[in-house]
Amino acid sequence: MRRPPHSRVNPPTRAARPRPLVERDESGAAVRRRGGGAVVRRDDRRPRHPVIRVHEVGKTYELGQIRVPALRDVSLRIDVGDLVAIMGSSGSGKTTLMNILGCLDVPSSGRYLIDGVDVGNMDEDDLADLRNRKIGFVFQSFNLVARTSALVNVELPLAYAGLRGSERRRRAERALHSVGMANRMHHQPSELSGGQQQRVAVARALVTNPSLILADEPTGNLDSLMARQVMDLLEQINEMGTTIVLVTHDPELARRAQRNIHVVDGLVIDSAPYERRRAADETRAGAGSPAAG
Ligand SMILES: Nc1ncnc2c1ncn2[C@@H]1O[C@H](COP(=O)(O)OP(=O)(O)OP(=O)(O)O)[C@@H](O)[C@H]1O
Ligand SMILES: [Mg+2]
Repeated sequence: MRRPPHSRVNPPTRAARPRPLVERDESGAAVRRRGGGAVVRRDDRRPRHPVIRVHEVGKTYELGQIRVPALRDVSLRIDVGDLVAIMGSSGSGKTTLMNILGCLDVPSSGRYLIDGVDVGNMDEDDLADLRNRKIGFVFQSFNLVARTSALVNVELPLAYAGLRGSERRRRAERALHSVGMANRMHHQPSELSGGQQQRVAVARALVTNPSLILADEPTGNLDSLMARQVMDLLEQINEMGTTIVLVTHDPELARRAQRNIHVVDGLVIDSAPYERRRAADETRAGAGSPAAG
């Protein structure tokens, strides 16, 4: 149902509803508003290209004499706009993989390319810049700064990026609005529910407008209703074109991803081959177009 054209001039009487993250044009296609409000149309038919390429990556932790192989020869491709769920039992290597994808840790062997650039060739400054500009992180334990308002928490990545105060505030407010937290901006983490804290953490991940969001068990500390709400939010963000990789133990949430990757004892298995997934995409696109004849 369409909203009346001038409904937004009326101040909300109840808790503010999140502004729809996904706006649609007349044809129903998702559009994205950036910065000054320019509309960027997401074209699902554009050729896909990889944001992540992992080539035979291994990671072994050395604990004195003991070597713990956490990842073994992992190869993986994740395309722009993908929503990927990583599953696997405890200790299988999911967080190790996510830390490498997020450039928080370095592989012991193999190569990792992000947007075609080999991360192994970057120095610490370039890596910090890459993490800050391109990647948003969401963690199971929210990792919000205690005794600090939601608004200031969301502003932090922008402060690291060197944005001035008024611009930081404006963007942080907008991000909190988009996750439905406009009416809790001045609350501290201890004054928020788990689901609300995670929504603030999602706003913090979003605020730099990253092309990739990495979420390691973002719903692990939430009850099933809040978990679904956070997943709804991630899905909406993905619909706008942001690539999302999330770790989850919940098969119901994993089913909502376009693709599931299983990590077993440091090996990646059963990830849908790119070609098979591409074919499925094309079948879906064909089913969505007007029937011929
Ligand atoms: N810093 C570390 N030093 C030594 N070993 C580590 C370190 N981090 C992880 N490991 C080991 O690497 C293996 C993979 O750990 P990882 O944290 O990636 O698992 P996970 O799949 O994320 O598990 P969970 O579902 O419990 O979060 C485990 O055997 C773990 O004990
Ligand atoms: Mg883990």
